[in-house]
Amino acid sequence: MTPEELALQLKEFYLLEQYQVSYYEDQLSALTDAHLRYAHEQMVERERQHVRFFEEKFAQRHLETPAIAGDLTRFAGFVSAKALNLASLEGRLRTGVAIEAKASAMYRELITHLAGYDDKLAEQLWHNLIDEEFHMCWLASKLESISGERVETNV
Ligand SMILES: [Fe+2]
Ligand SMILES: [Fe+2]
Repeated sequence: MTPEELALQLKEFYLLEQYQVSYYEDQLSALTDAHLRYAHEQMVERERQHVRFFEEKFAQRHLETPAIAGDLTRFAGFVSAKALNLASLEGRLRTGVAIEAKASAMYRELITHLAGYDDKLAEQLWHNLIDEEFHMCWLASKLESISGERVETNV
């Protein structure tokens, strides 16, 4: 991996994390159940920490923080049209699981590519990966308890 390739990756992950913040913020207005609301507030907070993590990486590397305007919607492509169903609570939870599954897969891939190149960064990214897996498992468990639907998380 070259420094330029890593800079591109950092930008991609920064946008991924901004997307997660905005996605969970959007869900808050639709949630009435206290348990679900607190969980989503907690996820928004954690995704904001991830955003700040990448902002620090840009600052340390003297890279410009990317502009995010208009660039987040493409991340909705993470989830299939079938999964992106926000009309029901089950649909929202299923969408959240799909987003977190994709985020986890992206983190795993980057961590693998960083081995031997930047082990310190890889170690830090493990914490973000685990956060995303926690989100995925919580959402999958909630979906399962509401719908009885068996949800594969592959953790
Ligand atoms: Fe995140
Ligand atoms: Fe997440």
